[in-house]
Amino acid sequence: FRTLDDAAVKGRRVLVRVDLNVPMKDGRVTDATRIDRILPTLRELAASGARIGILAHFGRPKGEPVPEMSLRPVVGPLAERLGVPVAFADDCIGDEAEAAMAALGDGQAVLLENTRFHKGEERNDPDFVARLAKLGEIYVNDAFSCAHRAHASSEGLAHRLPAYAGRNMEAELKALGNALERPERPLTAIVGGAKVSTKLALLGNLVTRVDNLIIGGGMANTFLHAQGIKVGASLCEPDLADTAREILAKADKAGCRIVLPTDAIVAREFAANAAHRAVSIDAVADDDMILDVGPESVMAVNTLLEVSKTLVWNGPLGAFETPPFEAGTVAVADHAANLCADGRLLAVGGGGDTVAALAMANAADRFTYVSTAGGAFLEWIEGRELPGVKALSTTVC
Ligand code: 3PG
Repeated sequence: FRTLDDAAVKGRRVLVRVDLNVPMKDGRVTDATRIDRILPTLRELAASGARIGILAHFGRPKGEPVPEMSLRPVVGPLAERLGVPVAFADDCIGDEAEAAMAALGDGQAVLLENTRFHKGEERNDPDFVARLAKLGEIYVNDAFSCAHRAHASSEGLAHRLPAYAGRNMEAELKALGNALERPERPLTAIVGGAKVSTKLALLGNLVTRVDNLIIGGGMANTFLHAQGIKVGASLCEPDLADTAREILAKADKAGCRIVLPTDAIVAREFAANAAHRAVSIDAVADDDMILDVGPESVMAVNTLLEVSKTLVWNGPLGAFETPPFEAGTVAVADHAANLCADGRLLAVGGGGDTVAALAMANAADRFTYVSTAGGAFLEWIEGRELPGVKALSTTVC
């Protein structure tokens, strides 16, 4: 695909798709890694005199404007890190967006409101794509972490405007290729986090690629439930129990070892420093919520990492953003990072929350590579073609 090296942007309106789906608590950005990774592209475009319209999504508002999912709180941290003012438009299409783009001078930028406030975004609806395309003359995709979504702003636009990969997109593909093209085995994956429904489907293919799959976080509860273990009031998707059982059977056939928690940290309320205790996984009470993996599980995971050669990690093992439920994730991250620093393990982590969790554990710098991508990272590992990347290679303009 073409990169910024090939684009003549001076005085042109450039639509840049980035990933600003950043960890946020009480309206504040709690980890700015995704913002930092897009700065090279934005700075280069600004220095080259482009008129920059920034497109991004936040959360999963299902095609409706949801005030809590506005991108407005991201403007401040973005402008501060970029070192130049960034304007904001309350919509990503229509009169307001068009006026905001028309008001830009060379080198100036506007952040357009959450693309997922419109149903056309996820549907990749041609009318919506056309309304976005009207705002720009050039399209730059710098959101590797959204490239697994064939959405209007991450895929559709590449077919409507001359399309280029941004610097972050280039860097992610290169770094993942270097680290994981031919992984040394045993290859172990850790998959956790709360996005159970979308990630569960990916595990079916993953078990045919990795030697060990450690399942943690909200994802583990669905698997435990599928095995008849009571998970009390924990996050769990009972509708996906059949899928979970199919994945377990597939793993068995493929010779992939599945590791589920054998103990857990539970609490009756989900709040910082809530009263909590460690219990065996078969002793979770009806009103208990599993909020972290227990010490026995941490030890089992860390032991497995010692005999692994490569680790890919997406998704925290517990509710790491609320103390003290970060302990399990932090202990495993620190151990993996030490093995990596000693040259005994090649470790790659990816995903918005994973990046934040690794930063919390001071593990990011000791990992071989930390990708901003979560779902896209897993799909890339599975060897799937990512629609957002493919579209850049097949752009018609
Ligand atoms: C991510 O956080 O992995 C990306 O921003 C994609 O978000 P999504 O899973 O809601 O599509």
